[in-house]
Amino acid sequence: MMKILQKAPKNGLHGNLTVPGDKSISHRALMIGAISEGKTVIEHFLCGEDCLSTMKALQDLGVKIVRNGNHVEVEGVGQTGFKQPEKPLDMGNSGTTTRLMMGLLAGQNLDAKMEGDSSLSKRPMKRVSEPLKKFGAKVELSDQGTLPAIVHGKKLHEATIKMDVASAQVKSALIFAALYADGTSTIVEKLPTRDHTEIMLRAFGADVKTAEDGVTISVSGKPRLKGRKVVVPSDISSAAFFIAAAALIPGSETTFENVSLNPTRTGILHVLCKMGGNVSIVPDPNESGEQSGTIRVKYAPLRAIELTEEDVPSIIDELPLVAMLAASADGTSKITGAAELRVKETDRIAVTAQELRKFGVEIEELEDGMIIKGRENWNVQTQKLDSHGDHRIGMMDVIAALKADCEMELENEAAIDISYPTFFSDLAKITGGVKND
Ligand code: S3P
Repeated sequence: MMKILQKAPKNGLHGNLTVPGDKSISHRALMIGAISEGKTVIEHFLCGEDCLSTMKALQDLGVKIVRNGNHVEVEGVGQTGFKQPEKPLDMGNSGTTTRLMMGLLAGQNLDAKMEGDSSLSKRPMKRVSEPLKKFGAKVELSDQGTLPAIVHGKKLHEATIKMDVASAQVKSALIFAALYADGTSTIVEKLPTRDHTEIMLRAFGADVKTAEDGVTISVSGKPRLKGRKVVVPSDISSAAFFIAAAALIPGSETTFENVSLNPTRTGILHVLCKMGGNVSIVPDPNESGEQSGTIRVKYAPLRAIELTEEDVPSIIDELPLVAMLAASADGTSKITGAAELRVKETDRIAVTAQELRKFGVEIEELEDGMIIKGRENWNVQTQKLDSHGDHRIGMMDVIAALKADCEMELENEAAIDISYPTFFSDLAKITGGVKND
């Protein structure tokens, strides 16, 4: 499938948007609701394909879940209430579903096979199965360390684990496994990563503590989790595409309401400010748990930036967008310490470079990052863009196309439904109805 993309209106992008619910929080609300006692009600749930993969997998494990638009009700089955699935669980394209579910299934009384699409079936899973062994878990993978996987549920015991990869998915799998162990487990992160699992488990009644160092997490086993209401804030990783659009296109001024401002996710705002972006943030009154607020972005000329390993976790999903902004900034930017990008839905270093070069951008690939030469005006080399089946690359292409001086085309645009099914209609709202649908 192919889609025609339009350039930005002459006066820029304008308006207020409430983007869909946060993907990471939507996954976790389903999973934690499923292993709790009683009902969990989720409002502003993200109906993207990845979260629907989690929903379907839990239903196949015997959990009753009813969805009406973005309102979801989960009838919790308790900690060990999953039923033996009759067929392999389909993880679709979702790394989050796969890795978190490995932790959730490791201590259940069942054997579950997990399968995924061709992109997911290339992604590394040993990073989860190996540390899970320390709890006594048994997860079989392919010879390449990928899906398909079989999780053989076991009785788990407490463990202390020092992680060697900065990954919230792996951390969350380990925290889930620790819920099934006797005693208290300790997980030490390489760098602090998104902490939605910890925040939500606490709200459901678990004893999960993060030490002052920000990387040591202790989890008491066998908590009694009680179902509750979860209101999902808007996904900053989705808002980021339009935040970047406003920062890229002269004359723009856009506002995003109720966006997640969890400090482990706001790297894009800090980076944009460092680049000279005009960003203002008004936090919502914080009742407890996840922070949210309003973000306003006005166009301003940008300057180059350098990012290193410590910067990466809070901006991991936005790095292709940072490269795109750097391509339009004054000076040469450098991103390093981001080798994780090579094992996302695509090799996002290679694919970002490939797509941005189509706009005439000079970009050099490093093993763990990119060097990007900024230039005020781009010089389109080819009008054919391609998402490569990766939702975030597809959306980056659409935003970059706003700056092009001609109409562009996007192949494989359906991938965008993975995390942002209403992306094109939201874009139309701030381009004043410039047709992109
Ligand atoms: C996610 C963690 C990150 C992120 C992904 C969602 C999560 O992956 O890239 O989009 O929900 O925990 P890693 O844990 O592999 O860094």
